[in-house]
Amino acid sequence: MTSGTELIPAPLAVEGPYRCGFVVDDDTTLWAGPGTATTERWLRATLGAAYGLRLPPGAAHAPGSLRLLVDDSLAPEAYQLRVAGHLGIEIRGGDPAGVFWGAQTLRQLLGPDAFRRAPVRPGISFGVPVQTIEDSPRFRWRGLLLDVARHFMPKEGVLRYLDLMAAHKLNVLHFHLTDDQGWRIEIEKYPRLTEIGSWRSRTKFGHRASPLWDERPHGGFYTQDDIREIVAYAAERHITVVPEIDVPGHSQAAIAAYPELGNTDVIDTTALSVWDTWGINPNVLAPTDNTLRFYEGVFEEILELFPSRFVHIGGDECPRDQWRRSPTAQARIQELGLADEDELQAWFVGHFDKWLSARGRRLIGWDEILEGGLAEGATVSSWRGYAGGIAAARAGHDVVMCPEQQVYLDHRQDGGPDEPVPIGYVRTLEDVYRFEPVPPELTPEEAARVLGTQANVWTEVTEDQARVDYQAFPRLAAFAEVAWSRLPAPAERDFADFERRMDAHYARLDALGVAYRPPTGPRPWQRRPGVPGRPIDGPPPNR
Ligand code: ACM
Repeated sequence: MTSGTELIPAPLAVEGPYRCGFVVDDDTTLWAGPGTATTERWLRATLGAAYGLRLPPGAAHAPGSLRLLVDDSLAPEAYQLRVAGHLGIEIRGGDPAGVFWGAQTLRQLLGPDAFRRAPVRPGISFGVPVQTIEDSPRFRWRGLLLDVARHFMPKEGVLRYLDLMAAHKLNVLHFHLTDDQGWRIEIEKYPRLTEIGSWRSRTKFGHRASPLWDERPHGGFYTQDDIREIVAYAAERHITVVPEIDVPGHSQAAIAAYPELGNTDVIDTTALSVWDTWGINPNVLAPTDNTLRFYEGVFEEILELFPSRFVHIGGDECPRDQWRRSPTAQARIQELGLADEDELQAWFVGHFDKWLSARGRRLIGWDEILEGGLAEGATVSSWRGYAGGIAAARAGHDVVMCPEQQVYLDHRQDGGPDEPVPIGYVRTLEDVYRFEPVPPELTPEEAARVLGTQANVWTEVTEDQARVDYQAFPRLAAFAEVAWSRLPAPAERDFADFERRMDAHYARLDALGVAYRPPTGPRPWQRRPGVPGRPIDGPPPNR
């Protein structure tokens, strides 16, 4: 039996729990009001698998029922969950998503076995204590970035992560689909993007300074049907998938597939292959009409596949060196009357800002898009700390806060020698719990520009699902609470209480089969002695 005092993320308010309760068993019926079909399907599928509960349809006010309804007197995504003795359980949501988040809370109340995929104790019935939970999210953008470019995550893994996100009330998957090291989405108009761009012949093992290589080819991509399935699976869970196609930097895989996209007047781009190591790559897109038309063709297919209002265009880490040396790029700077290469990048981003706006979408990019002037409709993902987000919010732009110093979950979570992925800042579970997405220097009006926050899982040194689990958990649970719950200021947060609730949550993660980092340190099989990392004392950033 679990009560509202063991939930993660913590709800806004819990009344109770009281001693008596409602017994959920095979006689429990389900009444689903208008607008609650996703939750109805999810509950039957999830509790049917975990407990063998049939949840047959029942009358609206039948005693012993589970009732789902939308009540628009509640805020979007808010819910109220009432467990009322023999009468049953009612989840009211301000909208269909609110009902769904209420169902996620109910699953936690039903004990860790509710997170399994088949009954381990068939025929069991259990009581849920009488209580009322009122809840609503602090932020409307509660994101997770998955980098499937550096190491490909097969579709099954992505669907699993969508389930894990839903269980933590996260609602935006920032899907990092392209990079120097791989192009992961089928584009029908340009088949070589995946024929050539989705495979590399070998891979640097460990930090980029490491002398080691994994000499096996690595790659993979999602077909358009895979993407449709991922997007639909996410939508069933009230998660939006924001695709990222990175331009004009981080593009070597695309240039390897279509050499004319690169700065052909500076280097022989036909000699480039999909990149096999890490770091900031000098081979960036040429600022030509041909490149713009090519990427419009890419984005046309992206818009058909992804209903998300936001489309991420990257914009980060685009070295200017080739543009400085390229007569074509310099001629473009002259012709457009631009001051320098920064403005050339701003022109490139501005083109896609207008292009996306004309199609009813909104451009989002990393904070480098501030350099050379921020495009009119752009939203900023602030990753190099808070500064980019502060500047953007002050200029009246929307912001997603994801500073690498706090919420890059590929970074090590302990300073000890056993940490298997020794890169980045040391960021412990407690550090993430004390992360504050809204910097104090923003006025209330500026703070309202912070749409929310996002944890980023880059995968240079995280080559499979078990490694991603290790990096993401348990810190993603702390992050989810930061994104959802209305926590006090960082220094006043009750980390001891979070740890107490984590005791219950580890049992849920175990039932889900998440290979998290235990609080005592990595399990023996999670250690990876000898993986070349980066000294902790060096200057950041240090992926
Ligand atoms: C980034 O980490 N380059 C966005």
